[in-house]
Amino acid sequence: MNHESPFYICHFLRIKLQFRFNSEVHFIGMESNVYTDGEHSECSERTVQLKNPHLGNMDEDVLYHLALGSKSHDLEEMFGDVKFVCMGGTPSRMKTFAYHIMDVLDYKLPVGAVISEITNYRFSLYKVGPVLSISHGMGVPSIGILLHEIIKLLYHAKAKDPVIFRIGTSGGIGVESGTVVISDNAVDGLGNHFYEVAVLGKIVRRPATFNMELIEQLKSCVDPNDSYETVTGTTMCANDFYEGQGRLDGAICDHSENEKMEYLAQLRERGVVNIEMEATVFAALTHHTGIRAAIVCTTLIDRLQGDQVMVTKDQMEEWQRRPQKLVGEYIKRSLQKKL
Ligand code: URA
Repeated sequence: MNHESPFYICHFLRIKLQFRFNSEVHFIGMESNVYTDGEHSECSERTVQLKNPHLGNMDEDVLYHLALGSKSHDLEEMFGDVKFVCMGGTPSRMKTFAYHIMDVLDYKLPVGAVISEITNYRFSLYKVGPVLSISHGMGVPSIGILLHEIIKLLYHAKAKDPVIFRIGTSGGIGVESGTVVISDNAVDGLGNHFYEVAVLGKIVRRPATFNMELIEQLKSCVDPNDSYETVTGTTMCANDFYEGQGRLDGAICDHSENEKMEYLAQLRERGVVNIEMEATVFAALTHHTGIRAAIVCTTLIDRLQGDQVMVTKDQMEEWQRRPQKLVGEYIKRSLQKKL
């Protein structure tokens, strides 16, 4: 028998797999040794409120990129217990995070069993008890689409006061590679503190704001014994990895090394600690819908030292686990009401 097969998992673990089109929803509905729903739920009973009057008039809301629907699926039954949504760029990182959360929640897989991986549609989604772990792809458009659908999913599911995290990678500015950055501010490539989107031929701007209380709570979860630094600062959200982040090594480049260094120094002076490609839309959409949210990224390079990310596979895996460890600790303490 193929031990990676979803049917194998279903048989041994009572994992529920939900398919629609090429659905990528992964459910892990196992017993927890530590936490039970209700007993450890957050105090707030506030459900997600959408800022869209049209949705109420619709017979069904199809969450197209999640391959789910408000009528075709019982979203409340499937996701009503969700307290935390954790997003990261790649399916493999979010699978690793699902395993990490299993450890954190003390969920046990029977010997030989694995969490199945289905990656043949847009996003890869895993559920481990009250935690969703989902890949968001690269850049503002990709995570923006996912956020619309995840926020609607939380609304339809009547999830209570959920928190959304992005656990990602970034390029640091003046910090050692492997440093963990908790974003307390987001700016776009022009230094604007908002997310800008063209709607009906006009520019709409939404403030890119983070929840300061959540940031403080995250900071309190930092392990003082970590061998690396965890810092807070402004995150610049670029629309591109190469020219948009001032790199010299894209297929096209019209600026000089000096111009790049001058630009990066200016960013540093303005408090920018890292550059990634999702922060403005992430902060704006969660803030606009009143959902607590935070971004925790590891830095893969110090951009003051170069452009090319040259990290060994082992190093990359270890650095990527750092934000996961911090968010996992937050989730654990939050469920234990120790924050
Ligand atoms: N991700 C980015 O957007 N930039 C980097 O330099 C590294 C990761």
